[in-house]
Amino acid sequence: MHNAKRFFLVSSLVCLPLLTLPLTRAQEKEPVKYIGPGSCAATSCHGSVKPIAGSRILQNEYSTWILQDKHSRAYQALTGEVGERMATILKLGSKAEEAPKCLACHALYITPEQRGRAFEISEGVSCENCHGPASAWLGPHTTRSWQHEKSVALGMYDTRNVIHRTEKCLECHLGTRNKFVDHEMIAAGHPDLYFELDSFSAVMPRHWKVPRESEPGKPAEDAAWSGLREWAAGQAVQLRAAMERLTWRAKNERFDKKEVWPEYSELSCFACHHALGPARDSWRQEHGYAGRRPGDPAWNASRYAVFRLLAKQIDSANAQELDRQMLLVSDGMSKLNPDRNTVAAAASAAAPLAQRIAERLATMQYDQGIVLRMLQRIPDDAENLAQADERAAEQATMALDSLYIAYSRETKPSNAAEVRAAINGLFQQLENPSAYNADQFASALRRIRPLLQ
Ligand code: HEC
Ligand code: HEC
Ligand code: HEC
Ligand code: HEC
Repeated sequence: MHNAKRFFLVSSLVCLPLLTLPLTRAQEKEPVKYIGPGSCAATSCHGSVKPIAGSRILQNEYSTWILQDKHSRAYQALTGEVGERMATILKLGSKAEEAPKCLACHALYITPEQRGRAFEISEGVSCENCHGPASAWLGPHTTRSWQHEKSVALGMYDTRNVIHRTEKCLECHLGTRNKFVDHEMIAAGHPDLYFELDSFSAVMPRHWKVPRESEPGKPAEDAAWSGLREWAAGQAVQLRAAMERLTWRAKNERFDKKEVWPEYSELSCFACHHALGPARDSWRQEHGYAGRRPGDPAWNASRYAVFRLLAKQIDSANAQELDRQMLLVSDGMSKLNPDRNTVAAAASAAAPLAQRIAERLATMQYDQGIVLRMLQRIPDDAENLAQADERAAEQATMALDSLYIAYSRETKPSNAAEVRAAINGLFQQLENPSAYNADQFASALRRIRPLLQ
């Protein structure tokens, strides 16, 4: 059904009083079901067209999702031209919108027993993909003084916790053993997956209040630096998840045990996909191939290159050990035939270290000083970041962007427009990734340093 039409149909319903009955023991034992976004869409629930003044939550979450959020079109991405072409190239043997390989991330892909009556697969990535099956908490969560923790106990996913929230996004934006985007899919037309919690949440766009209003008896959230917390903790969780993924790939633990090794999407894309030209114009040849044989594709360091600067600042002990393991990962992967055991050992040692740093980043206090130091460390490390290839340069640019938005909002520096233009200049250099030039990127990045005082 046409999305806009569906939106008007369901939003004319009202919150059913039936749903607010207290929970019975029998309901508690029933297997939880996914009931579909329509159940959340009443105007008095989450389907208001505008945010409701004075409400703790916005109440227009459904409208935001259906009208602005690409997740509500995720199923349609499969039925579109690129999706169908992918199905043919990959010889899926069915249409993309019928293939579990695709539905796993582009819809609420659950067993028939888990489906409630109003369930529709074509609704894409909907409320319960992120918030968990609602059958048990739908009714009670609308009562006054109901607490978030009680919903969580009934199967609501704890998106408030920034670590769990990132893990949820990464299930689809990085992949798991059971669902993944590998180089085979990328070569067939799938976009390469990358992620950054703060900017992706903004693009989504957020359908929640930032900072959240405090609940009775709980401390208020730190308003100024919530984006920074998301960026920082998100980076740490992403590194952990990437190391877990590398471990299962190295150990061939994918659900079908058909892992290709080395999986090309773990490597630097532009090691293989850059343009060829005269030798004298090649920045790669100019800088040599540190730590690897000329011509061996390097490991994709983008999920670590920027994060490492942050980790060193806030947790030097864990960061030092992490650095040691990550060097082993990088050396181990940047070879023609990476040794599975060496890589698995280093990656699985790195994952818990990243998690420890994530826990610190999720709960620590942020201030202007930390943000400024972090902003400065990025241009200070321009050479390394730039030479770690296009994806690392992209992460550095997104980091500057996120951090500077928070920093300038709080401190109102007089040269904000100049810095903004410089960051936009970096984004421009990334527009044609195969033509990326590390030296040009590094010099543009270095020029930002004196502007950050
Ligand atoms: C691991 C999760 C995952 C799997 C599995 C997956 N996708 Fe995706 N897909 C995504 C994500 C995430 C995006 C958005 C990427 C971005 O923009 O950063 C996406 C984007 C797309 C797009 C581009 C949509 C647009 O709006 O431009 C198409 C087309 C697509 N996927 C098709 C497929 C097909 C066909 C399959 C099965 C062969 C598939 N996907 C499997 C996660 C997945
Ligand atoms: C792609 C994931 C995703 C989808 C899809 C999604 N949400 Fe959310 N939602 C989130 C995240 C993340 C938060 C922020 C969590 C937080 O800070 O508590 C959130 C917050 C909320 C909040 C505010 C909670 C609070 O206590 O402040 C409500 C209400 C909500 N979502 C309802 C919905 C509804 C209704 C839908 C479907 C129409 C939906 N969401 C779809 C991820 C999602
Ligand atoms: C169940 C899988 C799934 C989960 C969980 C998920 N996403 Fe997505 N996301 C997708 C798919 C699939 C797309 C591509 C949709 C399309 O383009 O049609 C997408 C697209 C997006 C886009 C649009 C990207 C673009 O290129 O415009 C953003 C932003 C995004 N997701 C953010 C998030 C955030 C933030 C979270 C966690 C709070 C999250 N997603 C959780 C599957 C998921
Ligand atoms: C080790 C080398 C190598 C690495 C690393 C690599 N690729 Fe590829 N890629 C290939 C080869 C070989 C092909 C097939 C090219 C052909 O047949 O013309 C290919 C094909 C592709 C294609 C289809 C080409 C086209 O013309 O449309 C895309 C897109 C692609 N890769 C993207 C990526 C991305 C994104 C990454 C990083 C996540 C990546 N590749 C990493 C070697 C690599």
